[in-house]
Amino acid sequence: MEMEGGEGRVVLITGASSGIGAATARLLARQGMRVVLTARRQDRLEALAQEIEREGGAALAIPADLGDPSAREALVDQVEARWGPVEVLINNAGFGYYATVEDTPWEVVRRMFEVNILAMIHLTQRVVPGMRRLGRGHIVNIASVAGYISTPPLTVYSATKFAVVGFSEGLRRELEPHGIHVTVISPGPVRTEFGRAASGLEVDPGEVPGGLAPEAIARAIARALRRPVPEIVIPARYIPAIWINRVLPRLVDWGTARQGRAWLRHLEEARRSGSRSAA
Ligand SMILES: NC(=O)c1ccc[n+]([C@@H]2O[C@H](COP(=O)([O-])OP(=O)(O)OC[C@H]3O[C@@H](n4cnc5c(N)ncnc54)[C@H](OP(=O)(O)O)[C@@H]3O)[C@@H](O)[C@H]2O)c1
Repeated sequence: MEMEGGEGRVVLITGASSGIGAATARLLARQGMRVVLTARRQDRLEALAQEIEREGGAALAIPADLGDPSAREALVDQVEARWGPVEVLINNAGFGYYATVEDTPWEVVRRMFEVNILAMIHLTQRVVPGMRRLGRGHIVNIASVAGYISTPPLTVYSATKFAVVGFSEGLRRELEPHGIHVTVISPGPVRTEFGRAASGLEVDPGEVPGGLAPEAIARAIARALRRPVPEIVIPARYIPAIWINRVLPRLVDWGTARQGRAWLRHLEEARRSGSRSAA
């Protein structure tokens, strides 16, 4: 089914201060959607909102720490008061942490589940009543290939993304009868600030070869909004790996464990060279 053009749709994009979220905001605003930008870094959100408005688009910057349930409540209240019900929710905010499970501080585990999955469920609960009143809507959840193949040293992160995939599947089945679409998008490596945040390094610890530009994910999101599909893995070359992992997990164990150890050694070297940040 091909949906109407984006004109005027109110789109709430989490994690819009950088990477995939910022690229998606730019693209959807160009397509005529009214974009609400949220994340913690207010300066980034305001600069992006100004850029979008200079180009003739409509944008609203509302800073919020999505790790805080009351901030999530206030966010949806503010959007509805300004622009009415959210018609498209893009649950994109998220972060990882490169470490073995035993070396991941408990507070990081708790916060990762709070931001990557609880915020997604909470915002969904808050926007669905408005979508039901409108009789239409679309929720796009950003998972990861790590939501199908758990890859050390991102085991805790992978667990949050497996949860995103499972949540999205059930949500789709719940909401379809109400005319509300749900799409889960699972990117492979993307060239964003993710690596810097996950390593705590001032500099990016290095790109995984073949990483996509965030604009490629933004285009996939825009396509899904035009032609709703349940699930997108991007790039598609990861689909066979996902199937092999399901059917022959022991085969994948060896490669992922080896790659994980090599990555931790690489991070250790980068830290020793003095680029550890205060984060
Ligand atoms: N890059 C990849 O290789 C890759 C691959 C697959 C999936 N993903 C997923 O794609 C999504 C976007 O990540 P990205 O790659 O674009 O990385 P990014 O550039 O680091 O963007 C992450 C976004 O999440 C926001 N965020 C983090 N913690 C937050 C909090 N407590 N409250 C509100 N916002 C918060 C950040 O904003 P503030 O810091 O300003 O709060 C930022 O806007 C994530 O869910 C990530 O897991 C990324």
